[in-house]
Amino acid sequence: MARALLVTSIASVGAEGMKERARRGRNGTEMTLPRGPSAPGALQTLQWWFRPIPLMDRCRRRFGRVFSLRLGPGRPVVMVGDPEIGKSIITGDPDVFHAGDTNGLFRPLMGSNSLLLLDGEEHLRHRRMLLPAFSAGHGRRFAEQVREIAERQVSSWAPGKKLRLRDEMEAISFASIMRVVFGSEDGSTHEPLSELIPEMMDRCDSPFALIPWFHRQAGGLSPWARLLRVLNSIDAVLYDAIRQRRRDPLSELREDVLSVLVKAQHEDGSPLEDREIRDELLTLIMAGYETTTSGLAWSLERLMRSPEQMERLQSEVRDGKDEYLDAVVKETLRVRPVVPIVARRLTEDRVIGDQLFERGTILMVSIYLVHTDPDSFGDPDEFRPERFLADGGRDLPWVPFGGGSRRCLGASFAQVEMKVVLREVVSRVQLEPVGGPEPQSRMRFTFAPGRGAAARVVEQVPPSRAPATRRFRVPVPDEKSVQAER
Ligand code: HEM
Repeated sequence: MARALLVTSIASVGAEGMKERARRGRNGTEMTLPRGPSAPGALQTLQWWFRPIPLMDRCRRRFGRVFSLRLGPGRPVVMVGDPEIGKSIITGDPDVFHAGDTNGLFRPLMGSNSLLLLDGEEHLRHRRMLLPAFSAGHGRRFAEQVREIAERQVSSWAPGKKLRLRDEMEAISFASIMRVVFGSEDGSTHEPLSELIPEMMDRCDSPFALIPWFHRQAGGLSPWARLLRVLNSIDAVLYDAIRQRRRDPLSELREDVLSVLVKAQHEDGSPLEDREIRDELLTLIMAGYETTTSGLAWSLERLMRSPEQMERLQSEVRDGKDEYLDAVVKETLRVRPVVPIVARRLTEDRVIGDQLFERGTILMVSIYLVHTDPDSFGDPDEFRPERFLADGGRDLPWVPFGGGSRRCLGASFAQVEMKVVLREVVSRVQLEPVGGPEPQSRMRFTFAPGRGAAARVVEQVPPSRAPATRRFRVPVPDEKSVQAER
């Protein structure tokens, strides 16, 4: 998502020239963009692409918590690292702060019916439709299935083996999202998708694949043409799965996303079209596995370099306690947010903080800057899960899943998955890091450990010494809470 947001901001702002603009709003308040670097837009764009974390840090030091960036040829975007202002944007009136508008570049992939691309009533309607797939009973089964998947993966880690933990976590996360979306194991869907989806994600890594200007066939050799070919193969698998599920008499009893969508109806009672179901399936797969892959890789990358915290975690897990495990997941997503920004586009002029912003302005709330705000977090760069122990960090500005009516639909699933997998890993193996701390690098749609969380297996603990399985409760978003979010 991060990379797409990056590309979105480059591609969708209109041409305005390089000068900072100022004009009067209706109430006489001056509309001025916040200060920002004076380097040419092309250079800022390159810095944002290749070294986004140092760029954000530098801008905060020079210009404060709200600044402008020129990404691409058009009007600057406004980057917000102030926790209060950021929250007011993320949770602001969804009719004024459009999110779907900023995700336009996903359209050729996810299709026009994707939750990520919708705004207003249509967005809420789709969200309500998907909610039953995230219900409690399904969640408990999901935790047990993830544990089995993780157990299988970890069993193959022989002592002395060198691992890229990111790749190992990808295998677990992919199998897990397949369970959420399609239900119990179904080789005819899982197997082809396990090749095709990562290939599609890799092809999206190139800016030339997503920016509309580069959407040319070039005799079938362009990045866009190659991406389309993979997408067609994915569509064939998805449409086949939809057709089979429509014929499956047991789909009435099933609670996975595909079954929920096959049973869902429009307000006039008509069923969803295949195309609508396909768009939501692909959206959830794309949003739901790369994110947890990076989150898990970061947890282990940080824990391996924090011996005290690793020891405490192992000890509490051995005693069957969850509190520290929960804090480790929260602290990982704070200090290494895998989706580093969320974006909104203003549909009308708005005063935010003490400044008036013009309709059309793209506001990018930097989760990274909010989470490392020195007034909110002592020693913000330190990995210290203890800060979430007292009351779960209720008063901290912790927003890894965004918020308001756009809050990540898979937030509970993601945290349960991360806890189940971490419990399995730290109780079954002793790992040591290979090399120094890893940089935060762009990887497909998220920020991930730059060397893939390189590790060596020191010891594998036999299952008898490992703790008994525990169940995790999955808090469920319900329709009321979605309405309350508005
Ligand atoms: C560590 C893992 C994850 C992180 C950090 C994460 C983060 C996010 C963020 C920041 C947003 C945008 C929220 C906003 O605009 O305010 C989002 C949206 C979304 N996420 Fe996640 N996510 C994760 C895992 C998942 C999983 C596992 C699923 C599905 C099973 C999922 C499905 C979605 C969907 C459908 C949306 C769009 C919601 C909407 O627009 O209404 N995510 N996520």
